[in-house]
Amino acid sequence: ELYVWTFFSLNMIENKIETCLYSYNDIKELPGAIQNLMQQAVTARTNAYAPYSNFQVGAAIQLKNGEVVVGSNQENAAFPSGLCAERVAIFSAGALFPKEEISTICITASSVLKDTLEPIPPCGACRQSLLEYENKQGKNIEVYFMGKMGNVIKSNSIKNLLPFIFKEDSL
Ligand code: THU
Repeated sequence: ELYVWTFFSLNMIENKIETCLYSYNDIKELPGAIQNLMQQAVTARTNAYAPYSNFQVGAAIQLKNGEVVVGSNQENAAFPSGLCAERVAIFSAGALFPKEEISTICITASSVLKDTLEPIPPCGACRQSLLEYENKQGKNIEVYFMGKMGNVIKSNSIKNLLPFIFKEDSL
């Protein structure tokens, strides 16, 4: 999935990292269980508390035991005190089901200010946080993200969204 190509030349090594993402025109092209999970993310999105950005994000996490944990972005008048939907969801999953395997996260974002018809990828801080849980469980977490509707991008793991990561063994 995540390929590293190494090239040697006289006095240096060049590493090329290749990643892999899949694009679908519509959520209807995906399995029913994923459509259902994305629908729960859409519902979660409507519970965003986003009076400052008017940008509403929802995330739904499928656990292996069948439970679904959702999150939405929660803003604050002191802007950096707010939190993204993905981290609200993954931290809730970690707090509520610390031993349970996380299979999939579906993410959707809409804006009051414009139509978000292209997929909205998770921010860097969320990718870092999601990867922590992928490493913790030693199993890939699938990611699907879209805008308000339409085009969906799938990644088979968080690593594919964040190669060359700072992680536990970096410490
Ligand atoms: N936001 C998310 O919830 N997830 C992301 O990955 C990017 C941004 C939220 C944070 C803030 O409430 C609003 O979207 C605008 O940045």
